[in-house]
Amino acid sequence: MHRCEACILLGTAILLLSTQFKCVQSLNEDGLAVTPVMGWNSWNTFGTYIDEELIKTTADLLLELGLADVGYTTLSLDDGWSSNRTEDGLLIGSKSKFPSGMKALGDYIHSKGLKFGIYSDAGPMTCAGWPGSRGYEEIDAQTFASFGVDYLKYDNCFAPADDWVIDRYTAMSRALKKTDRPIVYSLCDWGVLDPWLGWAKNISHSWRTTQDIAPNWDSILANLDSSIGLAQFAGPGGWNDADMLEIGVGNSLTHNQERAHFALWSLLKSPLLIGADLRNITTDSLNVLKAKEIIAMNQDVLGVAGELVWKQGPKEIYAAPLAGGSRGLVFLNRHCGGTNQYPTINMTVHWSEIGLPDGMEAWVRDLWRQIDLPRTYNSSFTASVELHDGAAFKVTPVSLDLKRDHKMIALLDGWRPWKGNPSFVVHNEDLAELSERNMSMELPRDEYGYLLSVSK
Ligand code: GLA
Repeated sequence: MHRCEACILLGTAILLLSTQFKCVQSLNEDGLAVTPVMGWNSWNTFGTYIDEELIKTTADLLLELGLADVGYTTLSLDDGWSSNRTEDGLLIGSKSKFPSGMKALGDYIHSKGLKFGIYSDAGPMTCAGWPGSRGYEEIDAQTFASFGVDYLKYDNCFAPADDWVIDRYTAMSRALKKTDRPIVYSLCDWGVLDPWLGWAKNISHSWRTTQDIAPNWDSILANLDSSIGLAQFAGPGGWNDADMLEIGVGNSLTHNQERAHFALWSLLKSPLLIGADLRNITTDSLNVLKAKEIIAMNQDVLGVAGELVWKQGPKEIYAAPLAGGSRGLVFLNRHCGGTNQYPTINMTVHWSEIGLPDGMEAWVRDLWRQIDLPRTYNSSFTASVELHDGAAFKVTPVSLDLKRDHKMIALLDGWRPWKGNPSFVVHNEDLAELSERNMSMELPRDEYGYLLSVSK
């Protein structure tokens, strides 16, 4: 999202929700990354095989495919863009890959209304063996600013053990501040020094919390599991980064897995960085990446990251408060296997698990289908979730008036999903659901396929 758009949204939220000003204040004073960064990064598909033509084409495609319109505006080069340092110690782009130079590339990206991201390393070498920035922080920060860089991903390879992580990352933070250019600083220490615990917040706008992601379901789940318990540390200006998106990368995830990956990363308020080759992305993957109402959870102005609130083996429910008293929900069916022995399952969320008073009447909106369900719910909601899918919903209490009910809205917005959770409570609905999985037995459903018998 553009900074100015984020500011307008933030301003609106402050006006409307003045009682909750604390909730939308940035962790950082500089006003950057008020919502998680959205964009594209070269690593997941291209590794070090990047060049000027690919990046310019990708810039064009971000616009042509409507991705920039929905918020993907930071176009970021990962490892492999540079050559060795000049005799003066300057970092320059590889002449064979970027013959027009990095400043010209930045100008092209900016001419499209996009932001320019680049990559370096807090050690002597990048992970792929190009020069790192340790010891050259100031000179490199000035170089990046002279290229017109708006975003820096800063990796953690090859650092000696006695060169403390915090010192190395702080040195670049200081150097970036000296450039006087607003540069979003994205730490990539893979979570080795628990960056969520505070030190990273003071110096950066996001911090990687996990190992490198890969385009397979096990990797998505591993990074998801490594994110549990971290929501409380994120907020406007400083986000947990569960690593880049694998949607459309190598067509190795099923459609449901892509939906689950995207809905969960959105709710966790991870930066949303597309890793696919946009020249041949499928319509299905594109539709996942462009699902506006899922993106809206990620960019919600309240800026509270989602957390696991209910779990029973492979059935999980994640939730976050959304501005205005609503809740964002993702129901994940992570049953193993892919045979018809593991069909669609039902999962129920109770209002007590998402900080809504029992009896409070609420609308439920299906965020993938972009429809309101035809009736209201007042204490729980049951969803059917296909194998490896992430069904996503927004629960909104009915008839809340921003002026009249501002105290109630402030109370609802103040709910935090990590307090008192995760919950392992057994629902009566879970038992009823087993007979539903006898496919020969038909239980009554509404026109959208939601169970009528167990939804109150
Ligand atoms: C590390 C990072 C990756 C990527 C590569 C580049 O592994 O975690 O995201 O940037 O380096 O070499």
